[in-house]
Amino acid sequence: MTRIAIGVTGASGAIYAVRTMAALLDLGCQLEVVFSEYGRRLLMDELGAEAKVDRLGELLVSRYGDGIRRGTFALSSNKDLGAALASGSHRVDGMVVVPCSMKTLAGVAHGLSRNLIERAADVMLKERRRLVLVPRETPMSLPELRNMVAAAEAGAMILPAMPAFYQQPKTIDDLASFIAGKILNALGLEQRLFTPWKGA
Ligand SMILES: Cc1cc2nc3c(=O)[nH]c(=O)nc-3n(C[C@H](O)[C@H](O)[C@H](O)COP(=O)(O)O)c2cc1C
Repeated sequence: MTRIAIGVTGASGAIYAVRTMAALLDLGCQLEVVFSEYGRRLLMDELGAEAKVDRLGELLVSRYGDGIRRGTFALSSNKDLGAALASGSHRVDGMVVVPCSMKTLAGVAHGLSRNLIERAADVMLKERRRLVLVPRETPMSLPELRNMVAAAEAGAMILPAMPAFYQQPKTIDDLASFIAGKILNALGLEQRLFTPWKGA
C-alpha cells in the first residue's frame, strides 16, 4: 500500500488539500496528515464552518463520495516532533505540502524543522524521497523566490498552485482537480482527475 504524508499549511487554497487527499484515498493510499494551526484555520475560512479537522472524514465523503473509504488516514499534531513522521526509519513513499505557505517554504528551504511538517519534509530530503511543495502566493518577494530555488536544489519539487485553462475548467472543483492530478503525478501515482494533453 502506498503511504503518503500530507502537510496542510496556512496558505490560501484549502480546496487543493482536500481534493488531493480525496484523490489519494480513492487510490487506496494510506495518508499521514498534519495540519498547521493556520492550515486548520484556512480550512474553515475557505470551505465553511463545518470544515473542521476533527471531522475530516465526513468532510471528504460529503464532497467527494464514498470512494475515499478505499484508503485510510491518520492525523498527527504539528507540535509532535516525536511522531513517526519525524524519523527517517518510518517508511513513507513521499510527502506533499499543500498548500504550502511562504513561512513553511522558508522553514523547509533552510532545514529548520520547527514543527512536524517542516521536520517530515526535511526527512524526505535527507532520505532522498519525493517531496512536493505547492506554494500559493502572489506576487513573490525575492526571499520567497530564493527559498523556492533552495528547496528545489535540495531535492523538492516545486509545484505552484497554478491551474491551467486548456482543459476548459467550468467549476472551482475542476481547477482544484487539475492541481491535485499534477500532485499525484509528481508523487509517481496515476491520476484520473483530468485528461492528459494528447497533442493538437
Ligand atoms: C486568510 C489568510 C490567508 C493567507 N494566505 C496566505 C497565502 O496564500 N500564502 C502564504 O504564504 N501565506 C498566507 N497566509 C499567511 C500564513 O497563514 C502565515 O504566514 C502563517 O504563519 C503560516 O504558518 P504555517 O506555515 O505554519 O501554516 C494567510 C493567512 C491568512 C489568515
